[in-house]
Parts: sequence; structure tokens; C-alpha cells
Amino acid sequence: MYPNQKHGQWKQGMTNITNLNEWKALQNHFEEIQDKHLNDLFAASPNRFNEFSLNVGDIFLDYSKNRITLKTLKLLINLAKQQNLENKIKKLFSGDPINTTENRPALHTALRNLQAKKLVINNKNILTDIKSTLDKMQKLSDKIRNKQWLGSTGKPITDIVNVGIGGSHLGPMTTCHALSDYADKKLRCHFVSNIDANHLYNIINKINPETTLVIISSKSFSTLETITNAKSILSFFKIKLNKFDINKHFTAVTSNQKAAKLFGINEDNIFKIENFVGGRYSIWSPIGLPLAILIGMENFKQFLSGAFLMDTHFQTAPFDKNMPVLMALLSVWYINFFKSSNHAIVNYSHNLQGLPSYLQQLEMESNGKLISLNGDSLDIMTSPVIFGEQGSNAQHSFHQLFHQGPHIIPIDFILEAPNDKKHQQHRKILVGSAISQAQALMRGKSYDEALHELLNTGFEDKDAKVLAHHKQIPGNRPSNMLIIKRLTPKALGSLLALYEHKTFVQGIIWGVNSFDQFGVELGKSLLQNILTKLDDDTSVTEADFDASTLGLVNHIKVLGETNENI
Ligand code: F6P
Repeated sequence: MYPNQKHGQWKQGMTNITNLNEWKALQNHFEEIQDKHLNDLFAASPNRFNEFSLNVGDIFLDYSKNRITLKTLKLLINLAKQQNLENKIKKLFSGDPINTTENRPALHTALRNLQAKKLVINNKNILTDIKSTLDKMQKLSDKIRNKQWLGSTGKPITDIVNVGIGGSHLGPMTTCHALSDYADKKLRCHFVSNIDANHLYNIINKINPETTLVIISSKSFSTLETITNAKSILSFFKIKLNKFDINKHFTAVTSNQKAAKLFGINEDNIFKIENFVGGRYSIWSPIGLPLAILIGMENFKQFLSGAFLMDTHFQTAPFDKNMPVLMALLSVWYINFFKSSNHAIVNYSHNLQGLPSYLQQLEMESNGKLISLNGDSLDIMTSPVIFGEQGSNAQHSFHQLFHQGPHIIPIDFILEAPNDKKHQQHRKILVGSAISQAQALMRGKSYDEALHELLNTGFEDKDAKVLAHHKQIPGNRPSNMLIIKRLTPKALGSLLALYEHKTFVQGIIWGVNSFDQFGVELGKSLLQNILTKLDDDTSVTEADFDASTLGLVNHIKVLGETNENI
């Protein structure tokens, strides 16, 4: 049991995963190979790069710089089979209610299966609605791009403001940035998520309401940040435009049509997200509307088709050639056997700047859990802490810890192959940096190498011997290298679907429900009470809060009053 589980009533593990023979075999194997150096693994197997790399569509994965052998993979795959992965994949795609705690399927994959004609869930062919929603998105996207959608004063739309948070923000923002090369250059997309008014007003200051379309993106249409931002931006429009017509400037993407209508938005401007699509899996739904407008519907469909390609691969490839399965098993290997509790995403593509945050939500909100599907407490670690940054920036901030720090942090390097002759020098350095970082992390530098270098640069023997201790680098740090042939809509679709399925497989191995997120609810409900007490004329007593919360609320109230008097 984890220290975190000391508080609470936990059902005691009926399905202790560490008792499985497959787990024990992995543990024994780990004891055997944990000290093996990647340099030696490569020396022992000249074919290692070919053995441990594969291509799916436009994505190439080199996973040879991982601390594994063929036997490791075999044992990990045995574990996946024991956890019934094959059957679980079938259930995911066929619409079984695998989100058991909310009793519904997780059918984001249905949104990108454009060829299929029928998928019946609860006696309804869900593809009919999915297709008509896509048509509706197409109409809006075409109208805006063709300058036929006019604002209240008769001017065409030039700016889109997406108001949303979590999956209703990170998906649209990440993909719009990633595919900016495909954007209609006369359109600008802005993203408001934070409740800090600075975020909203920074954007409000940049737009002309006459030519702006706001998309309120909220599956629930009740998320406090989004609704507050939506109301504020609506007031701004009302003040600025004399003949303001909400339906020329506001659309909603939601499952809660009633609330969107109460906000004043017409049914024609409401785009439906199905209940079986989770927020962090929703970019393929109308949550992707800003992207569909920015890059056009044909490109958006390419984006969907890239995800479909990965879906097909995931469903059909044997596990030892299955990219999402392999990436998930590798992460299980590090988290559960090497006890690495972090995983880094370092993307050497400026346009993929949103990816680390997007994957943070995807993996951590999906698998950051301690309870198994049947309510038992787990006896193993689950989601790692995902963090990341763009390369080469990351090299000049936190890579030091990767190279010489005490933690083993597996890294996914993601880069786009150079495609054209433009900016050759930049591109060469960018790509070279990614490859050399992975190489340095693997190789390291021995004490003797460091000493030799120091002596060659003129250091005294005595000083060199001391400094060499600081300059040695252990190496043996694992990484994956993902090379995207070109960051097209299709390739981006494949990349995001790859990580979705990786997350799903991890969840299956650990036995958690990757599709709920009850942990975030408590903070939301406590906020309500704090908001009431933050009102100036409300007094706060010990009966209201614990001593720490009481202290903080009072401190803020005092500071607020003092600041007002300045
Ligand atoms: O609070 C977490 C969460 O529910 C996420 O899962 C979701 O992506 C986000 O909030 C936004 O939710 P909504 O789209 O309903 O506003």
C-alpha cells in the first residue's frame, strides 16, 4: 500500500497485480538486467536499431535506446496478454461501457472512422449524428473561410476566440498551433482558458468584436472558468456593438444544449459533443471546430484520417509491432520496475509547443489513480508525472538533471524531419540537437574520458583528477525518438491517437478506469464555499474551515482591503 493510501477506506486488493506470475517474471528479469548499460546492449546486438524501431504512417519510432532486451519485451507482452489487452481493445472500439464508473463507452475512435456506416449503441446508430455534426462543422467552416459569415455590422469574420478549459482548450490550442502552416493566413485564432481576467482581456484588447466569432467550448457548459469568461466576453460584445446579434458572434460546443440555449445561443449555432466522448479525448469532435475553421474541413478530415490510421494499426498489429502498445509497455517497465515516477516530452518542433500540456492532461487525468476497476486499492504505481518543454530550449533549462541527476526519467524526443530547403541551418541544428541529446543521454562520459579531456586541455594532473568526478556523466538514460515525416494534419492525427492508445494500454495493465476524473470534483465543490466567504461583508469563523484555510481566507480578505485603500 502506498503512503498516500493511509487515509481512507480502501478495499484491500483482491487482484494484487504484483502477485501475478507475469509480474513476478518481470521482477526477476529486472533484477537480472537493471545494471546493464545501453552501450553494452548495443555492442552485444548490432541489429538493435532495426530490431527496436518501427514505422506507422508518417511516424517512425526508434525505441532502441531503452533498457530492454527482446526478453523484456516478451515478458511485458505476456503481462499485457494476462491483463486481457486484446479483448479490451475490442471493447474500446465496439462501444462497450468500459468507462464503468460512469457506465458509458469511450468512443472517441468513432469520431474518426469516416468510412464506417454503422455503430449501434443503445439501439441507435451513433455514426448518423457524428456525420451530421461533421457536415454542420463543414458549413460553418466554409462560410467563415469564404467570408460569407457576417458579423452584426455586416463584416466577415477575421478572428476566432475559443473559450474553454482542459480538453476544451488544450486540444484546439495545441492542434491550431501545430498546424499553423496549413492555416488560412487571414484568420486568427485566440484561446481563453484561465479565469485570471488578464488572459481574457489580453485577447479582448486584440480583437475587433465586429469581425470576431466566439466559440464557447464546454462539454458540461457548467465549468466555472469557462462560463465566467463567456459571460464577460458577451458583456464586452454587448457594450461594443450597437446592433449586437449574439448568433452572429457566438457558437457553443457542448453536450448541454439546454444551458447553451439559456445563454442565448440558437440551436443552429450549437454543436453537439456526444456523452461518450471524454474531454481529453474530444479534439476529434466539434471541440476541434477552431481547427476545422483555421485549416479547412478537408484538412480537418485528414487529421481524423491520421488518427484512424493509428486506430487501425492499434487494433490489428501484433503487440510486438504495435506502436502504442510498445510505448505503453515501456512506460510500465520504467514506472513499475525502475520506479521512475516522471516521464518527459521534449518536442523539437516549435509548432508542437502545446504538446507537453496536452499530454499532461491526457495521461495524468486518465491514469492518475490509486483504485482499480473493481474498487480495490492498487499495490503499484500508475501515471507518471508528465512534464516537458520544447527542444532545444529544454537543453538549456532542465536537461542537466537528465544527464547527471539522480532520477531516471524516460524521455520522448519528438521531432519533424527537415522537409524543405528553407532555413537549412536552423533545421540542421534542431534535428542534430535532438539526436545528439539522445546519444549523450545513452552514452554518457566515463571518468577516464573526462580525465583525458581535461589533461589534454592543459589541466594539472591533481586538478584534473578532482574535476573529472564532476565531469563524468553516467549515461544509460533511456529515451524514445519519434520522427514525424512532416507535421501534416494526418501525421498530427496519428501522433495524438498514438498517445491516446498508449494511455489506454497503461490503464489496462494497471487495471484503472482511464476515462473518469473524480479527483477534480472535490476542489470544485470546496471552491463554492470559499467564494461565499470571500465576499467582503461575510465574516469567517473557525466553524467554517480548518485552521489553514481559515488563515488563508482571512489573509486574502485583509490584503484585499489594504490594497483597495492604496
Ligand atoms: O475539471 C476537469 C474537466 O472536467 C476535464 O476533464 C475537462 O476537459 C475540463 O474539465 C473542461 O470541462 P468542460 O468541457 O465540461 O468545460
